[in-house]
Amino acid sequence: MLVCMVTAKGAPGATTAALAMAMTWPHPVLMVEGDPAGGDLRSGFLQGADAGRRNLLQLAKTARYGLTAVDIARQCLSLDATEATRLVLPGLPEPFLGASLDTLWSPLLEAASRFWVRDPIWTKRVDLLVDCGRLDHPHLPWRLIEVADLVVLVFRATLPSITAARSRAEHLRSRLEEATGHSDALVGLMIEGSYRPWEVRETGMDVVATLPHDPIAARVLTERASAPRGFPRGRFMRAARTAAVALRGRGPEPATHSGDDAAGEAVTIDAHRRGEAPAHVGR
Ligand SMILES: Nc1ncnc2c1ncn2[C@@H]1O[C@H](COP(=O)(O)OP(=O)(O)OP(=O)(O)O)[C@@H](O)[C@H]1O
Ligand SMILES: [Mg+2]
Repeated sequence: MLVCMVTAKGAPGATTAALAMAMTWPHPVLMVEGDPAGGDLRSGFLQGADAGRRNLLQLAKTARYGLTAVDIARQCLSLDATEATRLVLPGLPEPFLGASLDTLWSPLLEAASRFWVRDPIWTKRVDLLVDCGRLDHPHLPWRLIEVADLVVLVFRATLPSITAARSRAEHLRSRLEEATGHSDALVGLMIEGSYRPWEVRETGMDVVATLPHDPIAARVLTERASAPRGFPRGRFMRAARTAAVALRGRGPEPATHSGDDAAGEAVTIDAHRRGEAPAHVGR
């Protein structure tokens, strides 16, 4: 399944939502920080752990010579300490490099379709959860958005954010209709504010999930602030799990197979921070 997350204006919390959902996704998942304006994970949640070595720019360089699932896994970090079923691919280390991604998306899609990971019972194809950034970026990954199973427009339930999202949604809808003949893939993910989901639905946006507006929880994910007690089971992460399940439920049946298992190339964040050689995860 391919899920593309986009925003209209401001910084409603798309990267934070993508990370929270990657941590709770009900299937093996690879979160790609594909924002052409540059990545935030490395300096934020990853706290510089990767020293700039594993990221989308490295992958774009590799892609010039063709891309395999193992090439992708080599640029990933695992969010799990012991398994490699939740992976992140950190974004561009600098802004203004968006153009370097334009030729990456097609080979990435192709290689990701052969990216299988093993969980205790099955070998499963990873779902791709791509943070595509703001819709008005000149290097927005349209190549992915136009073929995505879901295009998730993230906005806050405030009047300026809803207004911006509505007008951009119209443009997005017509672009999807042009490419695929319909715009069924377009849905909304709302960060709570002063409007309720049903009030927003009246504007024609299909809001399929909401996340709390919770600056303390968000800082755990954006700045790796210390987590309050019970954070993993708290309201924010429970809502993220509910959102992840709702989005996954709109996708095709998960693919299972006994194919190559490429995720052994991913490393744990903690192993990296300790300066160890890339530790293969889960086996
Ligand atoms: N659900 C939330 N509740 C409260 N604050 C949030 C929430 N999500 C994100 N934030 C805060 O909002 C700021 C922006 O978050 P984030 O980087 O996820 O937004 P974005 O939409 O990806 O923005 P950008 O367009 O810059 O990539 C951060 O300071 C983050 O801590
Ligand atoms: Mg972002």
